[in-house]
Amino acid sequence: MLDVQNIREDFPILKRQVNGKPLVYFDNAATSQTPQTVIDAIVDYYSNYNANIHRGVHTLSQEATDAYEIARKKVQEHFSAKHSHEIILTSGTTHSINIVATGFTNLLSKGDEIIVSALEHHSNIVPWQMLCERTGAILKVIPMNEEGELLMDVYDQLLSNKTKLVFTNHISNALGTINPIEEIIKKAHNAGAAVLIDGAQACPHVKPDVQALDVDFYVASAHKLCGPTGVGLLYGKEEWLNKLPPYQGGGEMIDEVTFEKTTYAGLPHKFEAGTPNICGGIAFGVALDYMNSIGFDAIAAYENELLEYGTQKLLEIEGLKIYGTSKNKTSVISFNIDHIHPYDIGSIIDKLGIAVRTGHHCAQPIMDFYKIPGTIRASFSFYNTKEEIDSLVEAVKKAKMMLA
Ligand SMILES: Cc1ncc(COP(=O)(O)O)c(C=O)c1O
Repeated sequence: MLDVQNIREDFPILKRQVNGKPLVYFDNAATSQTPQTVIDAIVDYYSNYNANIHRGVHTLSQEATDAYEIARKKVQEHFSAKHSHEIILTSGTTHSINIVATGFTNLLSKGDEIIVSALEHHSNIVPWQMLCERTGAILKVIPMNEEGELLMDVYDQLLSNKTKLVFTNHISNALGTINPIEEIIKKAHNAGAAVLIDGAQACPHVKPDVQALDVDFYVASAHKLCGPTGVGLLYGKEEWLNKLPPYQGGGEMIDEVTFEKTTYAGLPHKFEAGTPNICGGIAFGVALDYMNSIGFDAIAAYENELLEYGTQKLLEIEGLKIYGTSKNKTSVISFNIDHIHPYDIGSIIDKLGIAVRTGHHCAQPIMDFYKIPGTIRASFSFYNTKEEIDSLVEAVKKAKMMLA
């Protein structure tokens, strides 16, 4: 059991008011809030040991380097990677996917096939389309059903010896569906294809074990799991990361530079050109400590309770339809009411202090599937409460009355 009232004390932002009402923050799938311990780590870095890393002999630089590398180790342990050099610290999920998609340019040939799921965020679609344009590879899509689940029998048919890569999210940001990634990975490997899993939405709810999953690449962003923006990870199996060329050239990623020839540094530095988000990386490690101190089993159980409660309460509103009704889903509720535009409801309930997301959630193909312009998305975190859900339900009822 979580002591939610106590946990809420860790988040200063939860005490603020919005438009004269207590903030109810239900936009956790877009970004999570930041606990004091992470804020303290950021202040501590800039107050006490702000310096560039990996290059200075002075004390501050060494302290910053040590803290950054400790953070990498924490990320490695959290995701159960075999080696810390398999963890590339990036600016986030989007950056991580682009490193892999660009890296595959010379590994694909015209006519090769790559498979994506219908449930993807644009950041796990567009870089692959760009890769197809560069290489002549063909993009195939695993379709979805009305519940927002992938059609796995079609996936079986799409796989062949032409398939070189499969990429899907672990959990859908727009609908909350938990995808059967174990099965997806196993089947892709049987066909000889590599797999990238976009864990941006999964990491706030579950603790992935990349070795147990046997996944080739796993990517996520710190800001979805109580860390700062502008930092995230690319996990890659050592052999894959060695096969991929560097993504950017610059300082830090080199071994030796002359005007005739440059040789590259080993992992992980080969993919970390330039000065990284040092403070962000350190704070990412602290965020993981914080989440682990609460415990992912307890987080998942409590968020599931919120999901069940919220689903039942929202469905009591006449004309409300939920999109994404898989039994296997996390605490995301995407909905619309009759023909009211989601933006109108979102704007009215913001006046009542409630933060939800409206729109296509960077997943336009899902909206096209349902033939809607977008949804209202309420996404719950472990620091939310049932009382806050009651406020959401009342606010949505009020908005519906005003717009009817
Ligand atoms: C499933 C999924 N993938 C990728 C992203 C992109 O993450 P970022 O903007 O942190 O790079 C998001 C962000 O919402 C997401 O939900």
